[in-house]
Amino acid sequence: MTDIEKGSDWRLRVFDSMSFPTVIFKPDKTIVAVNKRYLEKLGVEESLILGRSCQVVNLEYYPEQKFPCNSNGECPLTKTVKCRTGQTVLLKHTDQHGHLGWEERVFSPILGVTGEVDYVIESIRDVSRVKNLEKMYSGIRELIDRVVQSSVSGIIAADRRGRIIMMNKAAEVLFGHSAYYTDNVNIENFYPPGVARDIMVKLRDEQIGGRGKLPITRVNIRHKDGTDIPVEMTGVIIYEDGMETATAGIFNDLRDRLDVERQLKDAHAQLIQSEKLASLGRLAAGVAHEINNPLTSILLYASLMREKLEKDHPLEKNLTYILEDTERCKEIVKNLLAYSRQTNPTRNYFKLNDVIDDSLRLIRDQKLFLHIKVIEDKWPQPLLVNADKNQLCQVLINLIINAIDAMEGRGVLTLHTYEDTVRGKAFLEVTDTGGGISEDDKSKIFDPFFSTKELGKGTGLGLSMAYGMMEENHGRIFVKETCTQGTTFALELPAVPLSELILFDSIG
Ligand SMILES: Nc1ncnc2c1ncn2[C@@H]1O[C@H](COP(=O)(O)OP(=O)(O)O)[C@@H](O)[C@H]1O
Ligand SMILES: [Mg+2]
Repeated sequence: MTDIEKGSDWRLRVFDSMSFPTVIFKPDKTIVAVNKRYLEKLGVEESLILGRSCQVVNLEYYPEQKFPCNSNGECPLTKTVKCRTGQTVLLKHTDQHGHLGWEERVFSPILGVTGEVDYVIESIRDVSRVKNLEKMYSGIRELIDRVVQSSVSGIIAADRRGRIIMMNKAAEVLFGHSAYYTDNVNIENFYPPGVARDIMVKLRDEQIGGRGKLPITRVNIRHKDGTDIPVEMTGVIIYEDGMETATAGIFNDLRDRLDVERQLKDAHAQLIQSEKLASLGRLAAGVAHEINNPLTSILLYASLMREKLEKDHPLEKNLTYILEDTERCKEIVKNLLAYSRQTNPTRNYFKLNDVIDDSLRLIRDQKLFLHIKVIEDKWPQPLLVNADKNQLCQVLINLIINAIDAMEGRGVLTLHTYEDTVRGKAFLEVTDTGGGISEDDKSKIFDPFFSTKELGKGTGLGLSMAYGMMEENHGRIFVKETCTQGTTFALELPAVPLSELILFDSIG
């Protein structure tokens, strides 16, 4: 009998005071010693246990428990004897209250002088708390993962060297990269040159959002296809033990919002423009009316005087100047009156292409067109509108004359009609190959009396009249495109739907 079996050695007192239930087997699985905690755990007397085989004890005291040996697993005790190294098994069980628990059973060999396994010592540790924490942690992780993946904001994390370590679905769409193929992509490739560096500088700046934080900032990110996308982003540096380990960013696509803002701004500008035109129209009408009568008498008396002069009188030239300039004033007044006319336009159904034919018929023979190539690119179907045709001709003639002025008499003038069937709009576009409109002037060209032309050449009323007329006809006029290569003005009108077209046909 050994010390262990005799129970006389001081080591056995240590064994007894261990706080883990512990049991010692012979290699043939008979129990030779158990400590106090083990007996407490099983609630039995030592004499009932000693000398019995572990399988018998397990069956008697753990009838519900699955052990490796009764569930197709390898017996850890046998394995310990065979391998002469420690073995660990994790057992799951449910207590009488239905709570899930885990036990870790550690088997260690006790070797004899020859190196053979004399005994195996098994200690049982309750690891339920750790296991439950682990489970809770992985549950939380899974939840966070799901929240991140389903977020509509793009979320990206990168390590210290800028390698992508996490990317959610929204970020995949926004940046055009797949989360699975980011091995060779650095976070710097996700921005236009210099932006990533700038963000890192701001992140580390204590003055901007605090250390390691970037408050909402507007930047451009770069999609895989090379396009830059405006976004709003926030960022953080992730620290571990005070050291930077990673950075993360949250991105929101701004394209839709910017589009809406732009449309609102345009609508606002149009509103201001119409208000301005309306009040100016009223003012102009009054002034024009007042001036018209004196002008008529100037014309009358000046021409009477000229008639009375002898031939080649030195004052004849001056009187001719007076008459010419007064005529010009009358022309302006006439335009002003037309512009401020409050009458409703007389609207009829007609084909938009007719406006091109009628207008060109009126002006084409002028020497103005000598070096102008006119391209007519007309919509092949009858593009029907309901508007005041005369007014539309006036608008188009204004645009054509402006275009020829812009080309300084030499260039290509394109007149293009087409239908946007989706939006139900008909368009007439006038494109020239002139020098374009400067960014500054663009906001002023529809203002009455705004002209960049030399004195005596422009009245600055053409476009503002066109603007008012298009509004009266439920349409609009706008600069579609302008650059140093040329300008396109567009006239937009509601296209008459097919049902009305039939009506039109029946009218003739
Ligand atoms: N096709 C065009 N290309 C370049 N500038 C243009 C064009 N059409 C109009 N503009 C600019 O808009 C201004 C206002 O035009 P408008 O109201 O017709 O007055 P005006 O022709 O009497 O100057 C012009 O003076 C010119 O600066
Ligand atoms: Mg003009």
